[in-house]
Amino acid sequence: MRVQVLASADAVAEAAARRVRNAIRKKPDLVLGLPTGRTPVALYARLARMHARGEVDFSRVTTFNLDEFAGIPASHPGSYRAFMDRHFFAHVNVPRRRIHFLKGDAADVGAELLRYDTAIERAGGIDLQILGLGGNGHVGFNEPAKALDVGSHLVRLHRASRKANAALFGGRLADVPEQAMTVGMRAILAARCVLLMAVGEEKADAVAEMANGLITTRLPASFLQTHRDVDVLLDPPAAARIRRRR
Ligand code: GLP
Repeated sequence: MRVQVLASADAVAEAAARRVRNAIRKKPDLVLGLPTGRTPVALYARLARMHARGEVDFSRVTTFNLDEFAGIPASHPGSYRAFMDRHFFAHVNVPRRRIHFLKGDAADVGAELLRYDTAIERAGGIDLQILGLGGNGHVGFNEPAKALDVGSHLVRLHRASRKANAALFGGRLADVPEQAMTVGMRAILAARCVLLMAVGEEKADAVAEMANGLITTRLPASFLQTHRDVDVLLDPPAAARIRRRR
């Protein structure tokens, strides 16, 4: 795990955007794994600007989003699909057929989860997985638990995670779905490269445990220590409790 502490949240977004742009220039048919959350918003805004300036072409890129709320359709304004359309897909040229999402309102949830893992495999796996970090150490919606499902699965959201997402539902916690679908640790850890972004002091504890603690399902991001190509980009508040390796 390579940890880099940059000057500000803006610098984190800029470095991440350059990394994505360069990866697409090198491999125009890149398979990108994408997160939602407040953290990547600045990354998506920068990629949209780079695209507008003609610096990056997404026409052959394939994307897989990490997670989606269960029980709501993609057209719901609170869905992660709607979030991604607003912040990213409306501003770049990823072809619709190459944008992949878990379908939150699927009638057969088991079949939907299987479909998603199969689609990721058929695409050849994820080349570059971008990740945010939950304040409780979740990645995607792999919530801390006694045991973790390895593949895509349905998960009961922790109250803290629902609270962190309430803004998408007009600030009303009661309206945030109680369950979500998420890719599992297998697809994340099978990605060829991982780029995790974390900013703000509310991430400092999770960052320190992720980088310095034991590997534990109680902090799903700690499994990234087992991956050979992980870059972690932090702003100084997020890095405040980390112990640097000599
Ligand atoms: C969300 C998402 C995660 C994201 C995390 C952090 O709920 N499911 O993929 O990384 O929580 O969000 P934020 O960047 O808003 O702190």
